[in-house]
Amino acid sequence: MYVCLCKAVTDKAIKQHVANGVRSMRELRACSGLGSQCGQCTCQANQILHNELVLT
Ligand code: FES
Repeated sequence: MYVCLCKAVTDKAIKQHVANGVRSMRELRACSGLGSQCGQCTCQANQILHNELVLT
C-alpha cells in the first residue's frame, strides 16, 4: 500500500528502511523523500515507523 503518493513510498518500503537502520522520521525523509512535498503522509508514516520500532 502506498503511504506517500508524492514520492511513491509504500509501507513495505518503510519497513525495509527500518530494517536497514532508520530510527526517525527525519532519517526516513532523508533516505526516501517521504513527506517532503505535500506532507499528508507524515502522520500515517509516523505510525508505521513507530510500530516497526516497537517490533524491532
Ligand atoms: Fe507524502 Fe505528499 S503524500 S509528501
